[in-house]
Amino acid sequence: MNPRTRKLIDADKECLWHPFTQMTSWLDSEPVVIASGDGFGLIDTEGRRYIDGVSSLWCNVHGHRVKKIDDRIRDQLDRIAHSTLLGLAQTGSVELAQKLVQITPQALAKVFYSDSGATSVEIALKMAYQYWRNTGQSDRRKFIALENSYHGDTIGSVSLGGIGLFHGIFGPLLFEAHFVPSPHPYRFDGAGEQCAQFSLDRIEQLLRRQAEKIAAVIVEPLVQGAAGIIVHPGGFLKGVRRLTRKYGVLLIVDEVATGFGRTGKMFACEHENVQPDLMCLAKGITGGYLPLAATLTTQKIYDAFLGDVAEHKTFYHGHTYTGNALGCAAAIASLELFEENDIIASRPEKVSLIKNALDRID
Ligand SMILES: Cc1ncc(COP(=O)(O)O)c(C=O)c1O
Repeated sequence: MNPRTRKLIDADKECLWHPFTQMTSWLDSEPVVIASGDGFGLIDTEGRRYIDGVSSLWCNVHGHRVKKIDDRIRDQLDRIAHSTLLGLAQTGSVELAQKLVQITPQALAKVFYSDSGATSVEIALKMAYQYWRNTGQSDRRKFIALENSYHGDTIGSVSLGGIGLFHGIFGPLLFEAHFVPSPHPYRFDGAGEQCAQFSLDRIEQLLRRQAEKIAAVIVEPLVQGAAGIIVHPGGFLKGVRRLTRKYGVLLIVDEVATGFGRTGKMFACEHENVQPDLMCLAKGITGGYLPLAATLTTQKIYDAFLGDVAEHKTFYHGHTYTGNALGCAAAIASLELFEENDIIASRPEKVSLIKNALDRID
């Protein structure tokens, strides 16, 4: 081991606390120290190469050190790294918002920025709650979420999370939510269609009894990633949309993991032609370069927040780095790469190439 690696590992163990990590185990380990990356590879301080097989936690889209994104960030750096969106507009954040509105489901018309998946969800649930307050339905305070769901680690997003191992300990700090069984085909004795219907029936039971108390239903569309890649049977998402419309409840889709091509379409919602009321985006939004997130919503929800300051309809939420200029520049470059390289349309060919290669492995 080269002396620099040793020094870095020692300093890491002295000063850092790693996410989701039992630090006792970490202290007993010899961690890999990443020094650089290129393409789909990571390179450690010993010069060893690794495939970045988890795409840096499902966020890297085009690879590392992609010239177009690198150049765009440098170019932005020569102008400004960050300026607040509180009281000011900023070029890149406007341009990106326009693009996001163009590429997301047609019902979505407004973009509210933040900096992580968890904050994008936190914003969606606060918007949903306040939407009902602003429209005179203050009793709508509860949310329906799926068991085993994961929406991030802030208190609001944990309240809507259903992974006991991560979320159980914080129980006393959380607000109450209703959880329904996720449509988990491997854990269900029956066909996919019945599995979807079983979960939909449970959602409908709740809505029938107390829709007037429900603010929104939140789902990870199509795939519950952190739960272990639970792939929902076809028709479930559409079914949730149908029920939320029938009972007049908002639908939040958390596309933090599924967005930006992960399920073969730009957004998972597109597989079932679903128009959500709120959509949460993060991870792949910058191609995996910088912490940026966005919560998109409809004109109708946005309009419910308009009025005189004295009416207290304002959405009092924001973060210092909301709409960060470097993040927006990276995101615009990433979206251009999607177009230039025809990434979505060229997927099926790549998928079958990988499938054929995997089929050869016993
Ligand atoms: C569906 C989903 N929502 C939210 C999050 C939280 O995102 P972040 O880690 O950026 O806060 C994740 C992270 O894995 C996720 O998979």
